[in-house]
Amino acid sequence: MASTDKPYPVVMVLGSGGQLGQEFKYLHAHGSWRWQPCFFDHRQADLEHPGQISSLIREYKPAIIINAAAYTAVDRAESEPDQAMRINGLGPSRLAEVCANEDIFLIHFSTDYVYHNGLTRPLREDDPVHPQSVYARTKLSGEQAVRVIQPESMVLRTSWVYSRYGQNFVKTMLRLGREKSEIRVVDDQMGSPTWARDLAGAVLRIINDHGGDLRPFAGVYNYSNEGECSWYVFAKEIFREAGLTVRVLAIPTTDYPTPAIRPPYSVLDKTKFKATFRLTIPAWQDSLKACLPELLHA
Ligand SMILES: NC(=O)c1ccc[n+]([C@@H]2O[C@H](COP(=O)([O-])OP(=O)(O)OC[C@H]3O[C@@H](n4cnc5c(N)ncnc54)[C@H](OP(=O)(O)O)[C@@H]3O)[C@@H](O)[C@H]2O)c1
Repeated sequence: MASTDKPYPVVMVLGSGGQLGQEFKYLHAHGSWRWQPCFFDHRQADLEHPGQISSLIREYKPAIIINAAAYTAVDRAESEPDQAMRINGLGPSRLAEVCANEDIFLIHFSTDYVYHNGLTRPLREDDPVHPQSVYARTKLSGEQAVRVIQPESMVLRTSWVYSRYGQNFVKTMLRLGREKSEIRVVDDQMGSPTWARDLAGAVLRIINDHGGDLRPFAGVYNYSNEGECSWYVFAKEIFREAGLTVRVLAIPTTDYPTPAIRPPYSVLDKTKFKATFRLTIPAWQDSLKACLPELLHA
């Protein structure tokens, strides 16, 4: 940074132990970005303990908070609705209050599951929302609170997130592919996979490009990788790229019941994101190919 330049913004990343949070850490360690990050995981900054987060904010004085923390156990949420709401609804709402009081721009993540509206063309940010699971309702509650309480905020709705970290579909398929010769995968749910690194990278690019003043970009945006597929097609591509010989059988959702209902069509339209930030988004097949070596040689 030249001495005449403005200092890079202090950016507080919450949920730094999760898939997305760890990708922010990875990118920080493997690139030079115009930010001063501080990372806090669940233990260090608990959304259920706002006092803990307030004192970190007083200490670090961030200009931006990235909230990558969430209750993400979609099926378990059906039997833990109160806890899911405390973390996904109330937590972000209190965080937004602090951000509004302290003039901190808040970047928050939500989910494709909030749409679940019966449309079968790529979903736009202003399409109706009709969440149909506990998880989806709690996420909608959180994003709405964020937008109302701290209008200087950005909500990024994403879908089908995977990475080398944590639990996700790609890791599950690789494990099953090594254990079994045949697996059954749902073929009547359509969506867009998202490599968490692409999403974290896009957020960092936005901070880089706009010098930390994100106020003109407040609003809701969709972000996933480009393209669409069913879980079955996604699984076949994972095995093909990984060189695993597995027979994959396409099944309907009715043959794989889960406690939480999933949207049958959840492909995100990214026109707003791409036009606003002038960023390109990689195709899901290219990102899967880029990510797989990290998973296979971990
Ligand atoms: N994963 C997906 O497919 C997907 C799809 C659409 C949208 N999203 C959204 O994308 C964002 C990032 O998801 P992700 O895949 O990175 O999730 P993740 O891997 O489950 O990470 C979430 C992190 O939040 C932490 N956490 C849980 N409760 C917390 C609390 N009370 N206070 C602070 N931290 C807490 C978790 O810590 P512990 O593990 O210690 O509990 C975990 O490290 C979330 O907003 C999620 O809703 C995810």
